[in-house]
Amino acid sequence: MSFPHLQSEVYFPDSLIESLEELLQGYPEDKVFVVTENNTERLCWPLLASNSVLNKLPRLVIGTGEESKSTDTLIQVWQFLSDNGADRKSLVINVGGGMLTDLCGFAASTYKRGMHFVNIPTTLLSQVDASVGGKTGINFNGFKNEVGTFALPQKVYINTEFLKTIGEENNKSGFAEMVKHGLIWDANHFEDLKKFDLDKMNLNELKDLIARSVVIKEHFVLNDPTEKGIRKALNFGHTAGHAFESYAMKKQKPMLHGYAVALGVIVELYLSCRKLNLKETIVKEVAVWLIDIYGKFEIDTDDFQPLYQLMTHDKKNEGKRINFTLIPEIGKFEIDINCGREEIFEALDFYRTL
Ligand SMILES: NC(=O)c1ccc[n+]([C@@H]2O[C@H](COP(=O)([O-])OP(=O)(O)OC[C@H]3O[C@@H](n4cnc5c(N)ncnc54)[C@H](O)[C@@H]3O)[C@@H](O)[C@H]2O)c1
Ligand SMILES: [Zn+2]
Repeated sequence: MSFPHLQSEVYFPDSLIESLEELLQGYPEDKVFVVTENNTERLCWPLLASNSVLNKLPRLVIGTGEESKSTDTLIQVWQFLSDNGADRKSLVINVGGGMLTDLCGFAASTYKRGMHFVNIPTTLLSQVDASVGGKTGINFNGFKNEVGTFALPQKVYINTEFLKTIGEENNKSGFAEMVKHGLIWDANHFEDLKKFDLDKMNLNELKDLIARSVVIKEHFVLNDPTEKGIRKALNFGHTAGHAFESYAMKKQKPMLHGYAVALGVIVELYLSCRKLNLKETIVKEVAVWLIDIYGKFEIDTDDFQPLYQLMTHDKKNEGKRINFTLIPEIGKFEIDINCGREEIFEALDFYRTL
């Protein structure tokens, strides 16, 4: 199955093995490497290991989880490439979620000043977001994605079979980014996402929805690769979302990124109503739908100031000005809408009383 409307090399192959065999023909036999992590080695690699050529490729298995997105693991990947004689004509195949594709994309984009890499994203979040768009990086000095590059993978291969093992929470987390795509760019996509049954997870239906989300993400990436302007649309839900994410972490009730984004979307829908006249009925309807899926991280009025503070620390803002991407209606957006403390408190109060 192919999606000709996709503008860069993102594929939804019927046979991932055949596509990889074809890809390998473009590289010297001993110059292709694979990186997996503990979970994807156990749960995803077996889908490819039946192919003896693939299974013979030198393979590095790194640690799982966000804490592996570190300088230590980065060095491990560089060391592996160096020990195995990788050069600028070599290829790394990244098999994993966003942690792995970010880290290994960074490793590949810096090794010998840049070598080829392809992503095989294995979580919904990485399929609709992390593996597409060319942002790579690692966490450093306590900050997320502090060091990184813009580097595009040669190809991205998306296979929904991998999603069978990732569990409800991780699937829902990725789904929130898709909801965001619909809200900023495509009202039909949003409506179809609303109809999608997350409990049944029909993978064929999901494949089509993923493809539409990828097209939306690509639209912004292609038109603004280094996030100087309209790519900021993709930040919808994220200014408030990152604040929820950090605050939950501080309170030792960590929440997955997509869950925080969903709550951030609610706050920013309210601000969209206040600043851009998004219909109040839409704000309420979408908020109730999202809480139904993601549950509610309870806050009270004492939490407003620390949440606001976290928003001002968002690295995309200078000083105390808080710039949001907001939507005047579903499927449209405006960037750099400046909101003040009172408006943000009001939005948090709307969320609190839902
Ligand atoms: N580059 C970008 O544009 C971009 C965009 C969004 C997020 N990100 C990054 O992506 C990361 C989050 O992505 P993620 O949620 O995929 O994280 P992740 O890679 O840590 O995966 C989440 C969990 O799922 C497991 N897993 C992966 N595939 C699996 C499978 N098929 N079956 C069972 N378990 C599986 C992982 O081992 C991990 O425990 C963050 O580091 C974030 O910064 C990057
Ligand atoms: Zn996000």
